[in-house]
Amino acid sequence: MNETRRNILLASAAVGGVALAGGAAWWYLRTTGEQHAPGAAAGDAGLFVNPLLVPGASGPLGVIDVKGPLAMSARAAQFPILKGKPGRLLAYQVEQGGKSFVNPIFRVQSGAQFSARLENALDEPTIVHWHGLKVDARNDAHPQFQVAAGAAYEYRFPVANRAGTYWYHPHPHRLTAKQAYLGLASFFIVEDHEERALQKALDLGFGASDIPLVIQDKNLDSYGALSYAPDDEQKVNGYVGGDLLVNLTPRPRFEAATRIYRFRILNGSNARIYRLAFAKGGEPLECHVIATDGGLLESAVKVREAFLSPGERVEVLLDLRSARVGDTVWLKSLAFDPMHLEMEMPMEHGAPAGHAGMAGMGAPGLADGAAIDLLRIDVARKLAYDRPVPAVLSRLAPAQPGTGEVRKFALERTEDRWRINGRTFETDEAPVTVHRGAAEVWELRNAARSMPHPMHLHGFNFRVLERRGSPAQQEPLALNAQGLAATDLGWKDTVLLWPGETVRIALDFSHSWSGDQTFLFHCHNLEHEDEGMMINFKVQG
Ligand code: C2O
Ligand code: CU
Ligand code: CU
Repeated sequence: MNETRRNILLASAAVGGVALAGGAAWWYLRTTGEQHAPGAAAGDAGLFVNPLLVPGASGPLGVIDVKGPLAMSARAAQFPILKGKPGRLLAYQVEQGGKSFVNPIFRVQSGAQFSARLENALDEPTIVHWHGLKVDARNDAHPQFQVAAGAAYEYRFPVANRAGTYWYHPHPHRLTAKQAYLGLASFFIVEDHEERALQKALDLGFGASDIPLVIQDKNLDSYGALSYAPDDEQKVNGYVGGDLLVNLTPRPRFEAATRIYRFRILNGSNARIYRLAFAKGGEPLECHVIATDGGLLESAVKVREAFLSPGERVEVLLDLRSARVGDTVWLKSLAFDPMHLEMEMPMEHGAPAGHAGMAGMGAPGLADGAAIDLLRIDVARKLAYDRPVPAVLSRLAPAQPGTGEVRKFALERTEDRWRINGRTFETDEAPVTVHRGAAEVWELRNAARSMPHPMHLHGFNFRVLERRGSPAQQEPLALNAQGLAATDLGWKDTVLLWPGETVRIALDFSHSWSGDQTFLFHCHNLEHEDEGMMINFKVQG
């Protein structure tokens, strides 16, 4: 047996710079027994031969079952994304029980206490935000709490969420896009009794048949390092990359058996949307959506494709029980219209012109909306496995339409900036105040001459009530008269709005934190966010 060794060098060094800070201390970390190769092959362009990095007991995306307090740091690291190239990125590091973790996956039981100390070993401010978690403003890590280089921050909160695939990433003022892009991001998995029942019913094993997939488009330089270099146009509209990584693996391959697999898919990209589909021999396959941002749906929903925008998660079951050894299934993003209509001239009747390619919006050879192969799945083993998809996954209370006035939010670009109700972010202004315990309906309306905006709310999850005015590529995905697609079902924290769409969401501002709490509502296109497509809302306690 060949023992795979993966070496990771971590250093305190310039963030995003090319050179390491002189005399920086280096850590040389060794993790053994990983199921993946040390760095993907660089030479075989186009060939999907690189073993998908899957979570193991240590190393990159290693799983930590959180029991006690954690110590984590954010720092520059060396990581061979491409074989034979040193690679550079930013990563969260945890040392625990004699093991080293890089961007660890935290696994926590619902109701447990979570406490962590974040050390900022970057050379600029940062703060960790727990995306999707119901926490108070201090633990949510509003940019007002960001810590300076060399400083630390203490988190302590009860995990109030139901089971689900949440995640964490930086949120410092105007630096979120760059730091998340350069590598700072991972999963925060919450479990409860419903989740354990599903694992048992399908005999799921995390990292084996229950696999988190974070999809990110990056640009790698000739040293195999991540490079974040948006031009002025990309700074405003969004930075897309030409190198597709799944779990930091370019052109990944996964060997499967004839059974049911669960993929927990996170769009961890700054600005790129994916039109996800599984396909065999060019034919789209049916898969089952079982969960969205905030955990399990009531029952599985069959789909052939789903849009996933930055920040959103979707969990799917892929049924390979009747596949044959030798079959290959691809996870793809199908081609779609990226709908960057913001720069186009309106036509006589106010309808936006058909778009014709996006100057500046695509990485070379991989424009926004282009068809992409993401993951090659080779069926390699026959397995006796006869478990069916469970009929009932969870019980959800019906979405509660609020009784008061509908609060309206207009998403549009004026004076060259993306805005929410005409505003851009001001750290100490809260344009919206809600009362603790209030049930509200928010109506989000995206202008016709706009671009897609994945809108994300901190501190609370919501339900999507209706989606109106959908473009031709979204409309056929509607499952009901309200226009909702599978990815709109269940509990959400991020919802995609195409140009011309109006989406209504139901929010319940109940929580148990006392006093006023200030949270964020923003677009999760991270360039839009950093440039100010974000507002505070205050929950009056
Ligand atoms: Cu995932 Cu405010 O963000
Ligand atoms: Cu968030
Ligand atoms: Cu946006």
